[in-house]
Amino acid sequence: MTGLVGVFDSGIGGLSILQALRAELPQSRFIYIADSGHAPYGERTDAHVMVRSRAIMAELLRHQVQALVIACNTATAVAIEQLRADYPELPIIGVEPALKPALALSRTRRIGVMATRSTLASAKFKTLLASLADQAEFVVQACDGLADAIERSASSNDTSDIQALCAQYTKAMGSFGTHIGQIDTLVLGCTHYPFATEELREMLGPQVQLVSNGPAVARQTRLKLAQRVFPADVQSAPLIPSMRLLLLSSGDPQVLQCAAQRWLPRMPAEALFLANPLNESAQ
Ligand code: DGL
Repeated sequence: MTGLVGVFDSGIGGLSILQALRAELPQSRFIYIADSGHAPYGERTDAHVMVRSRAIMAELLRHQVQALVIACNTATAVAIEQLRADYPELPIIGVEPALKPALALSRTRRIGVMATRSTLASAKFKTLLASLADQAEFVVQACDGLADAIERSASSNDTSDIQALCAQYTKAMGSFGTHIGQIDTLVLGCTHYPFATEELREMLGPQVQLVSNGPAVARQTRLKLAQRVFPADVQSAPLIPSMRLLLLSSGDPQVLQCAAQRWLPRMPAEALFLANPLNESAQ
């Protein structure tokens, strides 16, 4: 499957989705925008996230993307419906906390959900939660500051803030384990959180299952792309004629570069890291 796919997140978190996309669609090309200059989304207003999502969408369309993956739970919750209405012709795939996959895995029927404040407050998440509430008990936890701590650790390699925040939030959620009454499955409902897997595993032990949505989003993207026929002249967008991966940041491109080198397996040598022009201020 070929095609040029645009992917964005408030920062480096969406690289956890990009990993899965590149594994599922090895022939496709990707443009990734980390909106680090305007992050975190999860602790800002819906209006801010909507303005940023629209600006990024416009930038990605300038590159003639043929599909968009919103690799951010918060932006999906706030903006996907509006973006789909604005661009009905474009396949737009979003990401939501993996509550359904967690249900299939949990034996204790007590499931933890870590996400941003904004995702948890969204109507989209509340509807999803209500639709499954009779099947398990979900313990939800807003994790202020965690995405930001993961963002900072990408270049500093200092994980002490990640450890402290994970300890604080998992403690607040109660007891983890495989006995009745314990949380045996934890949903990582923000695309940054898979990059705290090591710290969480160390705290919770190997029996607690950590669940995120990258592979499911990648499969969904492949299905959507398969339904499209791309004209030959759109196969190579002019801004990246031969490049398989273009990574743009509205913040410090070095942070994105460090994160990609660390967390993107098989990073092509020709990947480009650029600070992009999307830096007009947003409220
Ligand atoms: N990675 C984003 C998400 O999945 C949000 C992180 C943030 O900017 O707060 O929700």
